[in-house]
Amino acid sequence: MKIFLDTADIDQITSLMPSQMVDGVTTNPSLIAKSGRDIKQTIAEICTIVPGPVSAEVTATDLATMRKEADVLSAIADNVAVKVPLTPDGLQLCAELSAQGIMVNVTLCFTAGQALLAAKAGARFISPFVGRLDDLGQDGMGLISDIVDIYSNYDFATEVLVASVRSTQHVTDAAIMGADVVTIPPAILGQLYKHPLTDKGLDAFLADWQKTGQSIL
Ligand code: E4P
Repeated sequence: MKIFLDTADIDQITSLMPSQMVDGVTTNPSLIAKSGRDIKQTIAEICTIVPGPVSAEVTATDLATMRKEADVLSAIADNVAVKVPLTPDGLQLCAELSAQGIMVNVTLCFTAGQALLAAKAGARFISPFVGRLDDLGQDGMGLISDIVDIYSNYDFATEVLVASVRSTQHVTDAAIMGADVVTIPPAILGQLYKHPLTDKGLDAFLADWQKTGQSIL
């Protein structure tokens, strides 16, 4: 399963690239707003740091304007995935861009029916928002399971990109279900490394090692 970082924070992305765990980046208008920076400059910088797909979202809602925005965003770099909302106009643009060989990430997916339409529109990625469904008391990961099954039934090439991730449990559940990608806030990548027994075990090994008086170097 690929891991994308869900952030527009260049410093955080730069610091996590050497870990070899980061396969791509997703941004959205809220994350760009949080960065306080220009969208085109920010996406261009991220694309030089991260060789994998970097999602940049259109902000218009009508087809004609979204088309123009998509042209600007996709021209920034070859690894830009244009992010479009799951609306009729968004899916029409998805079909057009996909036919041109441009990666499209269809965002704001909350039902399996919506995911089916995105796959039929040729999306490279579908982004179901699990955390926002959980927030409403609904079953976010149940939606992932349904979409993985539907895409497998029909051999759709669209990758299931689990978004709105709130916990490491979401990440492991996504992997168990066979999702293609999970996009996570940088803090959750840090949490994935951690277990108290790892820390405790390491302390004990090091204490025992010190008693031997040996040195490997
Ligand atoms: C990613 O593509 C989404 O925009 C993001 O995961 C949404 O997460 P949120 O629900 O925490 O805002």
